[in-house]
Amino acid sequence: MDGRDLVRLAKAVSFVGSAHGLRSVRASWRHRRADSVGLPPRGVERARVPGSVVGVAPEPGGGLVRFTRSRLRIIVTVSGALFYGWDGAEPEPSYALAGRGPEADPRAVLEPDKDGGWRVVSERVTVVVSRHGALEVRTPGGVLLRRDLPPRWWEPEGGGEARWAQRTEVSADARFFGLGGRASGPRLRDATYRLWNTDPGGSFGRQDDPLSLTMPVQVVVADAGTHLVFHDNTWDGTVSLREGSEGAGSGHDCAGTSELRMEGGPLRCWVMVGTPARVLHVWSQLTGAPTVPPGWALGHQHARWGFGSEQEVRRVVAGYKERDLPLEAVHLDIDPFTAGQAFTVDRERFPSLPRLAEQLRGEGVRLVSIVGPAVKAQHGNALYDGGQAIDAFVRDAVGRPVRGVVWPGESMYPDFTAERVRKWWGGLYEERLEQGFSGFSHDMNEPVSFAAFGEPTLPRSSRHAVEGRGGDHREAHNVYALCMARAGYEGLRELQPRERPFLFSRSGWVGLQRYGGTWSGDVATGWAGLRSSLSLVMGLGLCGVPYSGPDVGGFDGKPSPELFLRWFQLGAHMPLFRTHSALRAGRREPWMFGEEVLAHARVALEERRRLFPYFMTLAHLARRTGAPYVRPVWWGAPEDRALRDCEDAFLLGDCLLVAPVLEPGVDRRTVQLPPGRWYDTVTGEAFEGPGQVTVDAPLSRIPVLARGGSVLPVRDPGGGVALEAWAPATGRTGGGYVARDVGDGWEEPEIERFRVRWSQGRVVVETDGEGGAVEPPYPVRVRGL
Ligand code: GLC
Repeated sequence: MDGRDLVRLAKAVSFVGSAHGLRSVRASWRHRRADSVGLPPRGVERARVPGSVVGVAPEPGGGLVRFTRSRLRIIVTVSGALFYGWDGAEPEPSYALAGRGPEADPRAVLEPDKDGGWRVVSERVTVVVSRHGALEVRTPGGVLLRRDLPPRWWEPEGGGEARWAQRTEVSADARFFGLGGRASGPRLRDATYRLWNTDPGGSFGRQDDPLSLTMPVQVVVADAGTHLVFHDNTWDGTVSLREGSEGAGSGHDCAGTSELRMEGGPLRCWVMVGTPARVLHVWSQLTGAPTVPPGWALGHQHARWGFGSEQEVRRVVAGYKERDLPLEAVHLDIDPFTAGQAFTVDRERFPSLPRLAEQLRGEGVRLVSIVGPAVKAQHGNALYDGGQAIDAFVRDAVGRPVRGVVWPGESMYPDFTAERVRKWWGGLYEERLEQGFSGFSHDMNEPVSFAAFGEPTLPRSSRHAVEGRGGDHREAHNVYALCMARAGYEGLRELQPRERPFLFSRSGWVGLQRYGGTWSGDVATGWAGLRSSLSLVMGLGLCGVPYSGPDVGGFDGKPSPELFLRWFQLGAHMPLFRTHSALRAGRREPWMFGEEVLAHARVALEERRRLFPYFMTLAHLARRTGAPYVRPVWWGAPEDRALRDCEDAFLLGDCLLVAPVLEPGVDRRTVQLPPGRWYDTVTGEAFEGPGQVTVDAPLSRIPVLARGGSVLPVRDPGGGVALEAWAPATGRTGGGYVARDVGDGWEEPEIERFRVRWSQGRVVVETDGEGGAVEPPYPVRVRGL
């Protein structure tokens, strides 16, 4: 046991109670024993590099480059994505890709380069491979974006998984983003980040890493261009980032570096090059379009760990109604509600759940259920018996069931990497639907097993089906929650074929957006936690998961009224807008923080409701284009260095720039503006970007600026859609989109486009149709004049 283990032991005992604490000590011993049998020491290792080029075999999209000790496959696809894989790695099989990998671009061919190297030239990207296996990704114009040095492998002499490392250089001015959900971003500073989904236990702060949802995805933004790089490998690993520095005057530039070290798995990589919008578009084509949540999931949601009774749920909902505050969903968390067991109901406390659900639905409030993967290991527990009957649970290397400890106590874990297990699990949502639940939050699915020492996860030697290929937990851990989300999503689609499922999951991996969204997890109460909330949502959006949001107020403590309000105002502008806290961290209804907070929270809630058509439009645009709702301010101008370094504001779609207050005692703040005209949406004051301006940020509101020339769909007081057009600068034009709300089914709304321009001293808004200008079918309000 080392120092860290001791801290964890103390945490386990205090956080989860002494009963769980003691069980977790036993579970930790068991896990350690399982690994010592199932994962023998690696023994002597031999290092290897590719050697030098000995031949090539051109193929459509690129081809194969043979080295003395390895081979490299290069494919440029028709969508302009670049794939390369060493040692025989191919795009498939992959948990990340949606369907089959895209087709190779027949126009891209492998041709000789200087000094015995080779290159592939294509419309969107140029790849240059040196004689010794360094690989450069360049823009079509030839500007260098990244240089991978030849990879290195370490192979155990007796056979087994090779570890590998790859070092990459990027330009001195490049900035790194992504890697899934990180607390310390959005700009990823010099540090080593781990690729291993982890529940940090208790709650997490800015320095905690990794968290529940890691991804080997980096978005790199530099003067030369933007690219996204994805190492398609689910194993444990680390990414060490170091930003470069530019030599001032006569000094030399020092390149930025990224070093990836993986414990196993294929060395294969995808790179997408272009504008941020293009990069994310190609990325979502590759890994799958984000789901569009049902409309109600774009409204305000309230969760509580332990409502305790039906009466209490009714009281809270009535509290919102009495005060005329919008509320779309209540999330029933575990304990004491379900005693932590997925798919069971505490009948004593919730004797007539279907009736409660129906009544609430009549008032426009949905119920969301928490679902964890751990199944209480107890005969007579129907879920456990059902799982046993189909041999659903994860076993160790010698075939014994793996037991961990989670809320229900000693538990077993379904192996979601087996299709038959996903099918069984998917069917279990029927019970939840019958109870009246409309949505699901998947929790504790990193997966967690409370650990007194060692890692809070299943033994690394545990066996998994891995879609019939067979593997162990080292390979399956990071995709466990992704596969659970797939099980839930596919089950719900069958059970409720006419409704879009609503599912969000604490953990996941590349491709989670195909099944749903995510949330911050247990972010610590405090101003730093507020910053982390923004970091997580932005980072995940850049990795292709656009629907997420924080637990407003933070998880583990009592926020000051000011902190709560600032968090609430931020949450109101994020895709998932939910208030929630730990069991004893106090309540989060907006009226719990005094009259003043309530008045200002009301403004945020009403604004959220007014922006509903815009959020719906952003959800549909995300599905079609991969563009996240919440975008960094450099989205449209990545060449602007000041924007790349701006971490305290974000774009909400194309129209709005949101500048949350992230510090106490502030009533004015600076905002780094992208190019163009921007209006303070409350005062109407106009600013010209690019550059820094100062705006008012009184406690009563979060500063939001509208882009000049944008057309924003909003909710009319009568309930319909209206267009709010912000005047473009004189002589300039603009536009915007509306995706009609077509309900919660599968109908694809047409996306209407509108143009805005000056005409004879007036701002006019027109439908962008084929037969020329047409009057929009919505009321139009022009602002900013
Ligand atoms: C986890 C979840 C949190 C929930 C708690 C109890 O910590 O992240 O949202 O309240 O478990 O279920």
